[in-house]
Amino acid sequence: PPAAVSSETNHDENPIATLPTREGWSTPLILYNNCWLRSHMLTKFMLVKENFKPRHDDIILATHPKSGTTWLKALAFTIVNRSRYAFADAEHNPLLTRNPQTLVPFIGAQGGELDHLETLPSPRLLATHLPFSLLPSAVTTMDCRIVYLCREPKDGFISRWHFDNKIAQGAKIDLNTAFTMFCEGCSPFGPFWDHYLQYWKESLQRPQEVRFLRYEEIVSDPLKVVRDLAGFLGVPFTEEEERSGVDQEMVRLCSFKALSSLDINRNGGVERAEGKIFIRYSALFRQGKTGDWVNHMSKDMGEKLDRLVEDKFKGSGLKF
Ligand code: A3P
Repeated sequence: PPAAVSSETNHDENPIATLPTREGWSTPLILYNNCWLRSHMLTKFMLVKENFKPRHDDIILATHPKSGTTWLKALAFTIVNRSRYAFADAEHNPLLTRNPQTLVPFIGAQGGELDHLETLPSPRLLATHLPFSLLPSAVTTMDCRIVYLCREPKDGFISRWHFDNKIAQGAKIDLNTAFTMFCEGCSPFGPFWDHYLQYWKESLQRPQEVRFLRYEEIVSDPLKVVRDLAGFLGVPFTEEEERSGVDQEMVRLCSFKALSSLDINRNGGVERAEGKIFIRYSALFRQGKTGDWVNHMSKDMGEKLDRLVEDKFKGSGLKF
């Protein structure tokens, strides 16, 4: 059965201690402003809304985790930096020696600490898993560009479940418990439906500045997405670049096959949470396919999640 919700009381001096917490996933989660955040990240993420200073030319890659963040970071980084690095040149192409996650900092954490972000030259390429409601409202008033990426929820859930068990130091979470929690909205950065819907609405209100993307779209036509992204990011491919296949080369360079076979992504990794978590980069590359949920979930589970998704997105225009 899923772990019960607990909330501690008599902690007047520390409001965080009064927030609901749940265990089950690889680290405990805390419910903050209707979003389940990993407890060891909470204080960092709480600061973002107040203290992150958006600039009008910021580009923010906002993703629901396990929707292809690593892929999007690789693609966007390559597109916007193509005049800076010789991507064909193994010695100078950062993608060949660094995991894409490290090339685009997460706002407020993991190399994207707020003080450090202030020092970065414009235009900044940044990333976040935070829901739109936990970003400063200046993101909207400053017209920051956002590329949002989400994924068909059943596949997203299966990817999450595998990943959490790969990084878990303690007990692993069984599929049924994970599924129940996911459907209750309790998963990292969940409820997933609020996350999707917040960015969906923002993309309807600001279509010029907010691109809403699904993992499945990139899988089905990566070249089309790459060309569209280049235009959206303000650096469209020239006719000459398209003729010489620069865009196709970027798709190839950032493909699952190319990235997952690099030494850094096969053997590298990073510590998180003061050493409590170690993420092997190989855990970020599992299958890279759509529809894998059928290999793990029963038909009933699939239908249950489909019904939930239909219900949550009813009237929004968002469909999977
Ligand atoms: P699967 O677990 O379904 O294989 P994130 O980067 O947001 O954590 O998402 C991880 C998911 O994206 C994993 O999905 C992973 O395999 C997939 N992925 C990572 N790099 C990819 C790439 N270059 N092309 C396609 N999928 C990729």
